Amino acid sequence: MSNYVRIFDTTLRDGEQSPGATLTSSEKVEIARQLARLGVDIIEAGFPAASPDDLAGVRLVAEEVGREENVRKWAPEGVRPPIICGLARASAADIDRAWEAVRTADRPRIHTFLATSEIHMKHKLRLDPEEVVERTREMVAYARSLCADVEFSPEDAGRSNPDFLYVVLAEAIKAGATTLNIPDTVGYTLPDEFGGLIAGIIRNTPGIAGVTVSVHCHDDLGLATANTLAGIAAGARQAEVTLNGIGERAGNTSLEEVVMALHTRRPIFKLDCGVRTEQITSSSRMVSQYTGIVVQPNKAIVGANAFAHEAGIHQDGMLKHNLTYEIMQPETVGLSQSRLVLGKHSGRAALRARLLEMGYELTDENLGEVFNRFKRVADKKKNVTEADLQALVKDELYQPREIFHLEDMQVVCGTLGMPTATVRMRGPDGASVVRAAMGTGPVDACYKAIDEIMLLPNKLLEYNLHAVTEGIDALGEVSVRIQVDARDVSAPQRLSAQHEQLGHRIFGGHGASTDTIVAGARAYVNAINKAMAALGMHSDQQAPDAARTPTA
Ligand code: KIV
Ligand code: ZN
Repeated sequence: MSNYVRIFDTTLRDGEQSPGATLTSSEKVEIARQLARLGVDIIEAGFPAASPDDLAGVRLVAEEVGREENVRKWAPEGVRPPIICGLARASAADIDRAWEAVRTADRPRIHTFLATSEIHMKHKLRLDPEEVVERTREMVAYARSLCADVEFSPEDAGRSNPDFLYVVLAEAIKAGATTLNIPDTVGYTLPDEFGGLIAGIIRNTPGIAGVTVSVHCHDDLGLATANTLAGIAAGARQAEVTLNGIGERAGNTSLEEVVMALHTRRPIFKLDCGVRTEQITSSSRMVSQYTGIVVQPNKAIVGANAFAHEAGIHQDGMLKHNLTYEIMQPETVGLSQSRLVLGKHSGRAALRARLLEMGYELTDENLGEVFNRFKRVADKKKNVTEADLQALVKDELYQPREIFHLEDMQVVCGTLGMPTATVRMRGPDGASVVRAAMGTGPVDACYKAIDEIMLLPNKLLEYNLHAVTEGIDALGEVSVRIQVDARDVSAPQRLSAQHEQLGHRIFGGHGASTDTIVAGARAYVNAINKAMAALGMHSDQQAPDAARTPTA
């Protein structure tokens, strides 16, 4: 058995199924590039049958990140295009869309799935077990007629009868599946149980020797990483994971936890994977910024406190020898918190070089924009760290093409009067519009003024403010999530891969500034711009009724 574990990243598919994690195509490509730098083996880029947008996003990833000739244009030496995978239900129409989306990659993969647990077969699929076996055979064979690399997943395998699984999986192998992925779809199993399931599958499924066995766990009981490691110990050689563990409900197995467990406990596992661990921190931050899903401070490996030693007794131990309380070095995961990156006297060339080291290759024009923001921050803040730079790059560059642009704002607040915000924005017709509003606080006032200009009815579901680094002069980052009000506009919908339902999309936005109210305004405008883009508006188009620009 091979001693290499393939890392299959599904941040852009299962991760993006988290409420509010909606990503634009350009954000997907940026994350996919970072995943390639990180060294994952397979990127599951989306579910192309969900909507035309999703198909376009996966296709773009296949082109930009899945083809050697394009990867050479942006990637540092040594970065290879990963396999690009598209998800499909076990239907010819879905498989056709997945193939259409991934076919231009050098190494495309179709991943098709069909539920095998009693409860799913009876209530969701309304199929007999024999019909499930038949459909598996037909659809895997169909996918294989299009693509040489086919993965099959018996959905809800964790609650399926193992004897039935052996039969379904054997048929999938005969029909041409090259990877068999075993999902614990609802995060129900315990580590011993899941390890036993994988061992049983490897022992009892005819023909399994020639295929890769994969594990895909959800975290409903907080056991996703433990179950994944148990599956690997039992012989699985592919792990399906997401950065920061994002995903449906409680999320998926987190990439960083599995990779660092394999790395830190190598004498136990004796297994390798291709992930460049020093890229973990920047990858995690990028995903958090783009999805708007904040990483909890005590999250293993990538949480703000993961390497912080607060208690005096720990600090004393650390000063004597860092291995007293630290099982991993922060540098191993690319954390260089205290490292001063650049100061206010640093020039454009130094900034370009530092950003290149962090994986951002900017055009002259983009570099100019980031440099101007950097200078403004450096004037206010003594130490500009890597985390600050990452927040600025995201804030300046990886925005959807803005439909409305926040030009200026001023807020008056305090204990004496009503908080009032005045906001000036440039609309899609190029004209500037000014509106003022009062609110219960400065953020509320500001959001009301923005609403009066952007006119897209929405509900603010979440507002999160956190400091990028320590200190009174820290750059503040705000993440928001909004839901477009379906009564007033035809809110964009997309099909969920597993629930077969159309759902309203929630949009996340992100903003950074040394002024937290400005950061909040940027985040809100960013989220509304994303929603408008999904409604089909463009920056050079007249806004639809729900978002018409009022005359100044
Ligand atoms: O959790 C699950 O079962 C899935 C499948 C589509 C693999 O995400
Ligand atoms: Zn899943």
